Amino acid sequence: MDTPELQRAEGLIREIPDYPEPGILFRDITPLLADAAALRAVTTALAEPYLGRFDVVAGVEARGFLLAGTIAAMTGTGLVPIRKAGKLPRPAASVAYDLEYGRAEIEAHDDITDGTRVLLVDDVLATGGTLAAACELVGALGGEIAGTAVLIELGALGGRALVPGVHTVFTV
Ligand code: PRP
Repeated sequence: MDTPELQRAEGLIREIPDYPEPGILFRDITPLLADAAALRAVTTALAEPYLGRFDVVAGVEARGFLLAGTIAAMTGTGLVPIRKAGKLPRPAASVAYDLEYGRAEIEAHDDITDGTRVLLVDDVLATGGTLAAACELVGALGGEIAGTAVLIELGALGGRALVPGVHTVFTV
């Protein structure tokens, strides 16, 4: 999947050295989001393998919300936010997971329930911990993972091992 539209979209991802910490190369997708053709190209590519096979799109806070919402509107499906702990008024499930330093926790409401087919979307796959935890969260609510899709996979970090079969649009 390497169309001219996607190549152009990839060129709109802005690389910001030493953000948020020295030594980190941050990939800023806001110029891509601001470009109508690029936004359409990447959200189409994210959803394409799973079309017709999901009821809701679940996006992981925070940048995953933006892609998931766009895909939900494009495909006529629902949208479920997966939030960091403490942000939802009545979480039905939560999953804690390891970060490089420390632990994190994500939560969701019970808008995912038994048999809901969920397309899970995020912007970046790094270590894979976040997306793997999101899969566990969907399962804890009774949902079925219809697919996992990320815009950018940081290949060197090997996160794919934690999320077998994850669909990625760009690998860097
Ligand atoms: C980033 C990114 C993914 C996650 C990937 O989110 O948006 O959700 O890290 O990392 P992993 O594969 O190593 O788990 P971040 O924690 O920076 O949150 P934010 O989107 O709210 O800034």
